[in-house]
Amino acid sequence: PTMSQEELKKKAAHQAVELVESGMVLGLGTGSTAAHALDRIGELLRQGKLRDIVGIPTSKKTEAHAAAVGIPLSDLGAHPVVDLSIDGADEVDPELNLVKGRGGSLLREKMIEGASRRFVVIVDETKLVERIGGSGLAVPVEVVPFGWQLTMGRLKGLFEGYEACEARLRRAAAADDRPFVTDNGNYVVDLYFEDGIRRDLHLLSDQILRITGVAEHGVFIGMASSVIVAGRDGVSVMER
Ligand code: A5P
Repeated sequence: PTMSQEELKKKAAHQAVELVESGMVLGLGTGSTAAHALDRIGELLRQGKLRDIVGIPTSKKTEAHAAAVGIPLSDLGAHPVVDLSIDGADEVDPELNLVKGRGGSLLREKMIEGASRRFVVIVDETKLVERIGGSGLAVPVEVVPFGWQLTMGRLKGLFEGYEACEARLRRAAAADDRPFVTDNGNYVVDLYFEDGIRRDLHLLSDQILRITGVAEHGVFIGMASSVIVAGRDGVSVMER
């Protein structure tokens, strides 16, 4: 029997949770894959197989989910160093660079995962790409609401003459024309590439972050320690 995508996500999540030890400060990811890790950590806490865990949630949604499954929570103020973060991703390239933020939590994710000694990414094999932006799905940029049209125009301008890129303000829902609002009260501009990003990612990252009005972008360069990939033929681990 072939495994469903949901079962693959769960498999990757459970393998990552095997790295969790009692006493750890954990970065808790956001999204449908990370949700399986939360459930599993809650289960191990209830069974007494894990103790003294402190979770730092990467979103309000994850905060509610973690509280519901009994994971004690804290924040980066109290715990500026995180032992291990576990989170999903929208894209993973061969160098373990990531796109994150389809769920809109990229800013908190990047802060918490950047403060982690170890950052383990959990995905099913559909997330693997040759090039960042290559899936045709959004590369998100969180922007402050003030003057967002100007910021979006500047973002688009970065790609003129380089990559074919479309920029769109993310909406609350398909049937809701209001802007999507992040946990930080910001908007998201989604960038769509015809054939991925070909230029140096560090350079591009600097250029994006230099635009006044940009809060953060969803390309995570060199941050993942390892990626656990669940596929139809089994689980593999990509290491840096
Ligand atoms: C949340 O903002 C994202 O970064 C998620 O981690 C990412 O979108 C992966 O989500 P899924 O596990 O639901 O695909």
